[in-house]
Amino acid sequence: MASDRNDNPVLAVRGLETDFHIGRSVYHASNGVDLTIRRGECLCLVGESGSGKSVTAMSVMGLVPSPPGVIAGGRIGFKGEDLADAPDRRIRELRGGAVSHVFQDPLATLHPLFAVGDQIVEAIRAHQPLGKRAAEAKARDLLDLVRIPNAAQRMKALPHELSGGLRQRVSIAMALANDPELIIADEPTTALDVTVQAEVLRLLDTLRRERDTAVLFITHDFGVVSEIADRVAVMYAGRIVETGETAEILTRPAHPYTRMLIDCVPVMGEPERRLDAVPGRPPAVNRLPPGCAFADRCPRVQPDCREGEIPLETKRGSLEARCLHPLGPGEALAGGADPLEARP
Ligand SMILES: Nc1ncnc2c1ncn2[C@@H]1O[C@H](COP(=O)(O)OP(=O)(O)OP(=O)(O)O)[C@@H](O)[C@H]1O
Ligand code: SF4
Ligand SMILES: [Mg+2]
Repeated sequence: MASDRNDNPVLAVRGLETDFHIGRSVYHASNGVDLTIRRGECLCLVGESGSGKSVTAMSVMGLVPSPPGVIAGGRIGFKGEDLADAPDRRIRELRGGAVSHVFQDPLATLHPLFAVGDQIVEAIRAHQPLGKRAAEAKARDLLDLVRIPNAAQRMKALPHELSGGLRQRVSIAMALANDPELIIADEPTTALDVTVQAEVLRLLDTLRRERDTAVLFITHDFGVVSEIADRVAVMYAGRIVETGETAEILTRPAHPYTRMLIDCVPVMGEPERRLDAVPGRPPAVNRLPPGCAFADRCPRVQPDCREGEIPLETKRGSLEARCLHPLGPGEALAGGADPLEARP
C-alpha cells in the first residue's frame, strides 16, 4: 500500500504545455507544468488570477476550449495512461467517472430545468449498469453523504430552489457519484460565504480522506490551503514556481513570490491584506521576459535573474523552487517582519 502510494501516483503531469492562439499571438497558459498527486492526497494549486490554474486543470480532462486552445506538449499520466494521447471516447469515459470536477459555480454543471435527484441519477447511470430504482437509492445516499437534510424531498428540488451552499453540496454528490479516483475542484468554495465555505471545505476534506481520493484543489486563498492541502504547487505566469509540503510552504517558503502571497492572507483585524495586494502585475504570457518571470516584482532581484531559464530545483526539505536567490528558512522579505512569526 505504502509503495503503491509512492510509486504509482494517480495523476502525473509532465511538461504540460497548453497554448491559446489569439490573432498572431500565442499565450502560453500552461508552460511546462509538472504535477504529481497520489491516492488520498490533496494538492492545492495556488496563484493569482490568470496564472494558469484553471487551464492546467482543464487540460487534464480535455476541457480546454479548442480553438483557440491547444495542448502543445507534455504528458498527462492518469494511473499510468497518457491522456494527452488518448482518444476522445476514452476521455469521455473517464470524465464524471474515474475523474470528476467541482467548479466554483454549481449552476455551470447543474441543468436549471431538471430536479437535482434526476441529474444525479443520470450521472450514475451514465457510468454504472444500475436500474432506475437502484440509481435513485444511490442518489439519495449521496445527498445524505454530503449532509443535505431531507435528502428524499430535496431530490425533487430544482437547482435554483436550493441555497448556494446546498447547491455546491449537490455538485459534490454528483462528483462522488461514480467513486472517482481523482477530484478536480476549481475554487469550489470561492462563491460561498465564509461559514458555508468552511463547512463545504470540511466536507470535501472528510470525504476524500474516507475514500482515499486524490484531489487537485485550485484556490487563490492561502487560508483555504492551510485547511485542506497536503502539498502545494504555486503557479506564476504559466509555470510552477514552488512546490512542497503545506506546513513547510506556509511557514518557510523559499520563493519570494510564495512569501508575498502568504503575507497577503487576511489576518483578523487586518482585512486589507489580500491576495491582489501583491504590488505590480504578472507579465503577459505571450511576451514572457528572459529569465525569471517574477523579476519585475521581486524585492530580491539580481542581474543574473534576467539572464536565462531558471529550473525548478530542490532547495531544502520538501521545497522545490524556481529561484536563484531563495529565502532562507523563515526569512522575511527585505523591509518586512515575518508575518507568521508576528501572529499571536
Ligand atoms: N478561453 C480562453 N481564450 C483565450 N485565452 C485564454 C482562455 N482561457 C484562458 N486563457 C489564457 O490563459 C491564461 C490563464 O487562465 P486561467 O483561467 O487558467 O487562469 P487562473 O489561474 O485560473 O485565474 P483565475 O484565478 O482568475 O481563475 C489567461 O491569462 C489567458 O491568457
Ligand atoms: S530568480 Fe531572482 S527575480 Fe526571480 S524570484 Fe528569485 S530572486 Fe526574485
Ligand atoms: Mg481559474
